[in-house]
Amino acid sequence: MTDEHRTPVSLSGLAANDPRLQPAARNPELVERVIGVCFIVGTLCLAGFGACYWIDAQPWKLGATLGGGLLFLGIGIVAWGKYLMPRGPFVEERHTLANSEADRNALAAAIVERGGGVMQRRKLLGGLLGGGMGIFGIVALFPLLRSLGPLPKETLQHTDWRSGSYVVDQTGRRVQVGDLAVGSIETVFPEGTENSDRGQAVDQTVLIRVSNEAFTTKKGRETWAPHGYVAYSKVCTHLGCPVGLYEQELQLLVCPCHQSMFNVTNGAVPQFGPAPRPLPQLPLYVDSSGYLRSQSDYHEAVGPGFWERS
Ligand code: FES
Repeated sequence: MTDEHRTPVSLSGLAANDPRLQPAARNPELVERVIGVCFIVGTLCLAGFGACYWIDAQPWKLGATLGGGLLFLGIGIVAWGKYLMPRGPFVEERHTLANSEADRNALAAAIVERGGGVMQRRKLLGGLLGGGMGIFGIVALFPLLRSLGPLPKETLQHTDWRSGSYVVDQTGRRVQVGDLAVGSIETVFPEGTENSDRGQAVDQTVLIRVSNEAFTTKKGRETWAPHGYVAYSKVCTHLGCPVGLYEQELQLLVCPCHQSMFNVTNGAVPQFGPAPRPLPQLPLYVDSSGYLRSQSDYHEAVGPGFWERS
């Protein structure tokens, strides 16, 4: 390259056939073909990535197709900018905010002189690049759409506790009214969900024998704690840790994560710690055979979650 070619000049100072208006490549047609092949291969790789993702192909195939697609598109884009664009450098006078008539004429003359075929080929490359980017945009949505998992539907609002559900321990044994001594605690589930895939984490419940007598934790809950048994959700209302520690003398349930404490005699209102609301209470009753059963599902949403934001 001569000194003349390295010196920045205004477009108006260039002749139509000035080398600085020409692409850097010695053989632009060949470079265009190579770039076109890169765009096509890149597009095919990205389409292959979409197909692999859809059929849950092995991770290496996902990586290879996505990497190959981005690599070939990138090579094409870089080569286009490096070898097909006018090599310049060009400068505009600072005080000139719009191209002068002479500039526009000079540029138009240069373009015309290079021929319409070049423009046609560049349009083709532009179309190939646009197609590749479009495929990339579509396949980029696949992980988003397929990896979000199933909709939670009603599971955020309800557990598997139903009216008449038997209270069972972790082995599936039904709990009877005489099973727990005063001061004892047990993790229980609705029958049929303990240790099984059907059960949800929100089903787990702590059952505490507070006394021998029925008692009321809150107004409106007069029948919820028969024979001194009271049941609360085991899912902490702060961040969802299992509330499994029971301080018998103080009658407090303690969450081990951030030490929230819930008084089991007054509806598990938080006495200490960051929990923002009481543990939901499960209404219980004792049937004619002496088994503990639930009167209904929880009356409130269990654990922390979207309802905290309202
Ligand atoms: S998760 Fe229970 S206090 Fe934070």
